[in-house]
Amino acid sequence: MLVLLHRDYDALSTAAARIVAAFVRRKASLVLGLATGSTTLGMYRELVRMHLDDALDFSKAMTFNLDEYIGLAPEHPRSFHYFMQRNFLSRVNIPQAHIHIPDGTIRNGYEEYCATYEAAIHAAGGIDLQILGIGRDGHIGFNEPASSLGSRTRPKTLSRTTLDDNRRDFSPGEEMPTAAITMGIGTILEARHIVLLASGAAKAKAVAKAIEGPITASVSASALQLHPDVTFLVDEEAAKELAQTDYYRRVMDMTAKLTPGKLW
Ligand code: GLP
Repeated sequence: MLVLLHRDYDALSTAAARIVAAFVRRKASLVLGLATGSTTLGMYRELVRMHLDDALDFSKAMTFNLDEYIGLAPEHPRSFHYFMQRNFLSRVNIPQAHIHIPDGTIRNGYEEYCATYEAAIHAAGGIDLQILGIGRDGHIGFNEPASSLGSRTRPKTLSRTTLDDNRRDFSPGEEMPTAAITMGIGTILEARHIVLLASGAAKAKAVAKAIEGPITASVSASALQLHPDVTFLVDEEAAKELAQTDYYRRVMDMTAKLTPGKLW
């Protein structure tokens, strides 16, 4: 695990975009696993800028999103389809046919649908780089506490913490989704490289549990400790509850010296 501490949200966003750009430049046909959430916005903004100013080319890349709310159509302004198109996908040159986001509108046959989503990831050759955020309850994707660490893509009921957090995205009185289709923890762990972004004091406890706590289904991000190539990008506020920040800084210095490319 590599824990990279960043001064603030902007520094973290730029670092995340640089990682994605380095991967796309290295492999044009990159299979990217994407996440939604306010934390990812700065990264997407920077990637769009790199596309426009530095000719960063996504024309051969393929994307798979982690999750989507059950009951929201793609054109619903709170859907993850809408979020992705508005903030990233429609602003770069990824062909629409290369984009995969779980369908929140299916009414039945979830098992079959989710198996098809997994099969599409497999057919694409697996995810090369998976981007993640983290929920206050430690979730990745929508793998809420007590998600099996081996779980696959499936419908999942949202936790009370997540529902409370989501309230800020919905108008008062507006009906909020209570479930989502999400890649499973087992699905996520199969990505070749994983980068998790965490910003702000509200995430500090979840970040500390994910990185330094025991591996437990109660904090799904803690399962990332099992992954051979995971990088946590954490800003100062989100790093506040970590016990080993001095050590992470020394590792950053050493990594910069020994494998300069690794820190992008
Ligand atoms: C949702 C998404 C997660 C994301 C989380 C964090 O729950 N399903 O993938 O990590 O939001 O959101 P934010 O970055 O807005 O705190």
